[in-house]
Amino acid sequence: MEFHHKILVVDDEPANLRLLKRVLSGDYDVLPASCAEEALAILEEHDISLVITDQRMPSISGVQLLEQSLSIRPDAIKILLTGYTDVQSLIDAINSGHVYKYIPKPWDADELKLTVRRALETYELKKRNEALLRDLQIALVQLEDLSIGTITALADALDAKCDYTSGHSLRVSRYAVAIGRATGLSDAELRDLELAGILHDVGKIGVPESILWKPAQLTAEEEAIMAQHPLRSAKIIGDIPALSRVRSWVLHHHEHIDGCGYPDHLSGEAIPYGSRIILVADAYDAMTTDRPYRRAIGHDCAVAELLKHSGSQFDAAVVKALISIVGEEGAALNTQLPESFLGLKLHSIDPLQLGTQYQVESARLARLKEIAQRMGQVTFEEKK
Ligand SMILES: [Fe+2]
Repeated sequence: MEFHHKILVVDDEPANLRLLKRVLSGDYDVLPASCAEEALAILEEHDISLVITDQRMPSISGVQLLEQSLSIRPDAIKILLTGYTDVQSLIDAINSGHVYKYIPKPWDADELKLTVRRALETYELKKRNEALLRDLQIALVQLEDLSIGTITALADALDAKCDYTSGHSLRVSRYAVAIGRATGLSDAELRDLELAGILHDVGKIGVPESILWKPAQLTAEEEAIMAQHPLRSAKIIGDIPALSRVRSWVLHHHEHIDGCGYPDHLSGEAIPYGSRIILVADAYDAMTTDRPYRRAIGHDCAVAELLKHSGSQFDAAVVKALISIVGEEGAALNTQLPESFLGLKLHSIDPLQLGTQYQVESARLARLKEIAQRMGQVTFEEKK
């Protein structure tokens, strides 16, 4: 997918506008606007990838302009510039959830260029994700001809969107299958469990990056947006009869045994068993990998947390099954993962499609491979 980016720059000061145009023109098609009205007209006419606007303008503010731009170019990335320490505009910008970055004036040309490049990479990733999503929906409709490549690519793309969790969907699916097998599920159920593990967070593609990547506690409003993701994931899977079980497991993967989860506050046995498995697999992987707001807490602490919330948040039998598989060492689970029913490989992640965390993931898998080889359990061979 080739991109030719058009950037809209908005500032009522002619000198600032000229400077922005000069700094960015070498690499991109830069369209200047000296007021909000002009900016909105350009947005109507051109397929804009990125909007950079000053906050202080005579008619409407930069934040208001960005809000209005949403109805015209919802996917365009938005950057706000301001020369004032204007706390309220910062809060408004962040709360609106659509501002990629807030840059104080005076800005540095090299830093601005770098921010623009990163912003456009985010834009490209989003567009590629959308294209993959369309392919996935076609593949799901033609289930008999299910495209494993598309599902793998989609899981990779999703994990790349949250590059701190690269490989997360694949690992969750494997953990889930291991738990399902240990608790006696049939092959058909294990296959659906693997698919549900891969697709459980696919709805996060619709969550703004400003929320997904937020390096701090989410506000109540942001949490409400995040809480929509199981519904979005289920909607993407759709109403295909052959996938009704996968859909239901995905829809309820954040329900808690005590009824305090979401989206339907189901409790106990009313929560589908596959959803209870995915919740535990998801939590274990989340706790043993770095997140934007905290480092990984490690295997021992993760197991302690699962036990602490066993019977309230988590199904006690599922937690017990995971611990029986994991054993004393967290690494044991990684070396004893069952074969993938869908033919997916943990190390099939394409480094070109992933964020920087891929390197960490590769190094971790290489270490595990070394341990497995020393123990005589070579289970990481690439399938031809
Ligand atoms: Fe989730």
